[in-house]
Amino acid sequence: MNTILIIDDETAMCVSLSKLFKAHNYNAIYTSDSMQAEKLLQDNDVFLVITDYKMPGYSGINLIKIIKSKYPELPVIMISGFGSVETIVSAMKYGAQNFYEKPIKFANLLSEIEQLKNVKNKQNKIPTTDKIITNNNKMKEIMEIVEKISATDIPVIITGESGTGKELIANAIHTNSNRMDNPYIKINCASIPETLLESELFGHEKGAFTDARELRKGKFEIAEGGTIFFDEIGEMSVNTQAKLLRVLQEKEFERLGSNNVQKMDVRFVAATNKNLKVLVEEGKFREDLYYRLSVVHLEIPALKERKEDILPLVDYFINDFNLKYNKSIHTISNETVSIFLEHSWPGNIRELKNCVERSVIFCEEPEISPKNLPMQYKRVTDFSANDIKSVYDKVTREVILDALNKAKGSKTKAAEILNINRRTLYNKMKKIGLDTWKTDKV
Ligand SMILES: Nc1ncnc2c1ncn2[C@@H]1O[C@H](COP(=O)(O)OP(=O)(O)OP(=O)(O)O)[C@@H](O)[C@H]1O
Ligand SMILES: [Mg+2]
Repeated sequence: MNTILIIDDETAMCVSLSKLFKAHNYNAIYTSDSMQAEKLLQDNDVFLVITDYKMPGYSGINLIKIIKSKYPELPVIMISGFGSVETIVSAMKYGAQNFYEKPIKFANLLSEIEQLKNVKNKQNKIPTTDKIITNNNKMKEIMEIVEKISATDIPVIITGESGTGKELIANAIHTNSNRMDNPYIKINCASIPETLLESELFGHEKGAFTDARELRKGKFEIAEGGTIFFDEIGEMSVNTQAKLLRVLQEKEFERLGSNNVQKMDVRFVAATNKNLKVLVEEGKFREDLYYRLSVVHLEIPALKERKEDILPLVDYFINDFNLKYNKSIHTISNETVSIFLEHSWPGNIRELKNCVERSVIFCEEPEISPKNLPMQYKRVTDFSANDIKSVYDKVTREVILDALNKAKGSKTKAAEILNINRRTLYNKMKKIGLDTWKTDKV
């Protein structure tokens, strides 16, 4: 079934979107409480998520992070009344498929969903390879270390900016080791609430606490003989860190509610995009755990520090997405090459991968050219008159909303802040579709 999950704190928005989707033969489910999204994803076979940007509980960006860590292939489309350039960039950076400004142009959204549905039907199980593409010397050194330590049980910490390939390296450590036929357990410390993390890791006996209705094995037990990957370890509380340290040192643990000490044989790999040394100085990360974990410390360079990797990665991703989307794109144009080489890639390889994916989807020629790139990669000269107008409207809208915000909704005060007269403000608001604007939208 083609189920779409809609998350928006405005129930009216959820209801109207789901009605429209249902009218087009999609199954739509929704929640106005972003904290419920994960549960709905667990219980339903969802093929697309549509989420609002600004919500109480998890923000849209947080939701994307959580969803992408658990279901990397699941497309997420973001909708928002606040289409600032930063909002769009951060949504795309974390892997949003696309961004629609409210009021939503439903026909466009529907045609994108139609494409995604076709892709999903075709896709069904193309094996995902974990190939690591690089021409960079520092990366090659890292790969050599990964090989050298493969036969050992030494803990490894992997650091680097978001999207640099930390998880890929962690996977390589496991698959290159003689533990590869045993379990490989990943734990995202940022997405499991502190209160659950301990029972998740240690497991519990029946009756250990109110909700412990039956015995449950923890990840330490399940991972026996294999590898545990603690992703985003910088988010782990100091309290849990102390318990983890003991497990690392003693190689033993007890289930919650039990005195029975169990020996364990598990390799620890951890990753974070935070600077752990700074966290140690701030008292947020235990120094002893830091030293214990960082026997081998792999620092993955950002993409802007290894520009020689950009084009080989682009080729690799084009091939991958050609297969996935049944396309036959050969290359990218010279102009696109120079845009890619100049771009700073704050979202690193994940951002590059998303950018290539979208370009492959929208490119109908053998070569990707700047016109196929998402808006934020275009140079001013690549913008059509329409593009320029839409950017102008976006910026104007943002400035006016900001002024209205500062003026707590008073148009007279907002006009004063903007140093224009009230009539001009009205006219501008009308031109960019803000004439029905109400204070409660801020
Ligand atoms: N060298 C590489 N070759 C091919 N694909 C890569 C490479 N590095 C990263 N990728 C791809 O880029 C995406 C992001 O990588 P990954 O999830 O490992 O990053 P990360 O550092 O763990 O990011 P975050 O800090 O956000 O968790 C993945 O889809 C991964 O497969
Ligand atoms: Mg990661």
